[in-house]
Amino acid sequence: MIRKGIILAGGKGTRLSPLTKIINKQLLPLYDKPLIFYPLSILMLAGIRDILIITNPNEEINFEKILGNGSMFGINITYINQDKPNGLPEAFIIGEKFINNEDVALILGDNFFYGQGFTKKLIQQTHKNKGASIFLYQVNNPQDYGIVEIKNKKIISIKEKPKFSNSKLAITGLYFFDNKVINFSKKLKPSKRGELEMVDLFKKYLKINKLNVNLLGRGSAWLDTGTIKNLFQTTEFISSIEERQGLKIACLEEIGLKNSWIDKNSIKRSIKFYGKCEYSNYLKNLI
Ligand code: DAU
Repeated sequence: MIRKGIILAGGKGTRLSPLTKIINKQLLPLYDKPLIFYPLSILMLAGIRDILIITNPNEEINFEKILGNGSMFGINITYINQDKPNGLPEAFIIGEKFINNEDVALILGDNFFYGQGFTKKLIQQTHKNKGASIFLYQVNNPQDYGIVEIKNKKIISIKEKPKFSNSKLAITGLYFFDNKVINFSKKLKPSKRGELEMVDLFKKYLKINKLNVNLLGRGSAWLDTGTIKNLFQTTEFISSIEERQGLKIACLEEIGLKNSWIDKNSIKRSIKFYGKCEYSNYLKNLI
């Protein structure tokens, strides 16, 4: 059973400059909430309550302003800095003490997931994780992602941002690992671009036959927030769904309440904290 989760919320956000010159990418608005709410909601939907947020030096204060120690959502958040964006697997080295001897889920702070049946998939995964598990999603621009090539149900290659590829199956930024991930990460060497790479970590699991691959079907959405255009498209997606249904995507208090991690009084405190706004009105309707 996976009880620990990490959100990687550092990085320079270069492609979103000048916005990211003054604010961490994960605190930018994604429609009606800060971006960080969305990956955090995914970990909460997976039933994970013990969460580490890794961010850039001097930036955790801004995350704390909005998320605090997590108690308003019924979770426990700790913060650690990453000095420089040395690569995604560094999360497991920086987070070694936090992970301790348990298994762990990692989600990238800029990833957006949505779709029928996704919560069920997440819960199943946290209950029976063995080795490493990744989620794949078909994309039209494989050169921008980690890509897996599969033939006769066998993985034949894993490449980071290949210039040419026979496959369009991208590795999404949500990963589940057993405790071996700490030692495997420590053994990684930086790639040509000077970063520790997730694909090298997956190759280590593939070698011992412990890399599980799940496909997210076309009925689900995995959207990008990496460029201004993508951020805008994802905003439009969220606004369409929320306005159509009158239900919010990634309302953290709603998930906390559904999971029985918080009660109505806690929601009342959140309403006071946010003040008069549309998000507070939504919370009022919940109780
Ligand atoms: O989004 C999925 C993709 O994410 C995967 O398909 C790729 O295999 C994986 O390498 C990654 O690619 P990106 O180029 O999108 O990663 P990026 O450098 O943009 O980092 C993703 C998030 O993680 C971003 O919000 C910043 C944060 N980050 C990144 C690095 C390298 C950190 O907090 N620390 C880091 O050292």
